[in-house]
Amino acid sequence: SRLWLIVPAAGQGNRMQADRPKQYLELEGRPVLAHTLARLYQAFPESCLCLCLTEGDPWFDPVWVPFTQWRRVTGGLERVDSVRNALQSIAGEADEDDWVLVHDVARPCVTREDLLALQAALEDEPVGALLAVPAADTMKRASDTGRIRHTESRERLWHALTPQGFRYGLLKKALGHASSSDNVTDEASAVEALGLSPRLVTGRRDNLKITRPEDLPLARHILAAQRENERG
Ligand code: CTP
Ligand code: MG
Repeated sequence: SRLWLIVPAAGQGNRMQADRPKQYLELEGRPVLAHTLARLYQAFPESCLCLCLTEGDPWFDPVWVPFTQWRRVTGGLERVDSVRNALQSIAGEADEDDWVLVHDVARPCVTREDLLALQAALEDEPVGALLAVPAADTMKRASDTGRIRHTESRERLWHALTPQGFRYGLLKKALGHASSSDNVTDEASAVEALGLSPRLVTGRRDNLKITRPEDLPLARHILAAQRENERG
């Protein structure tokens, strides 16, 4: 079966409070988007990429796309709508049991090792799988006034990262059922809503999603540290 990559990159990056969407902020001389696509390409050079962009995106430049097989897809109102549009764009070509990996453009520090570990986990996995990290901090449930209501048990609590991988047919079905009010912030939650349990694959903590201003220097440090380790 074939491998498809969907990279939602049609967000505005409001929490970043920058002069442009966060995927176009510069990291070591090129935009975040270029790093993310390069990392995906290192692991999956033969796959076909669907890149979700806002209509008429003035920041995008195709020189940042290393893939030979790729297409641009118009993003939607919410992340889930962008991913849905991407699935629609491959509808005629994808087989039901093709694998689809969805990866946030705002995660440029994902490593080749984690990507390959996820792919390996999918091999004997009927439902699908995602990179995730066990919670390290103590987790508090708050009241709406910002006071602690209770402490959640940290045991068996995970951070869901991306990529998240599912069979094309299942993902299409899951996202078809999801409505915008469901607060589907990742693909796994749409699949869970069908009563299925995707597998958690332990990934690296440094697979950071650039979200707030302080995350950009952090991402810089992570990329430098990863290069250092490779040499070491
Ligand atoms: N995304 C998308 N289409 C949307 C909204 C988000 O493709 N309508 C993408 C973003 O580009 C990002 C990913 O979904 O790669 C995760 O979303 P998030 O981190 O929330 O990014 P933004 O929505 O851009 O940021 P913010 O919520 O701070 O505005
Ligand atoms: Mg958002």
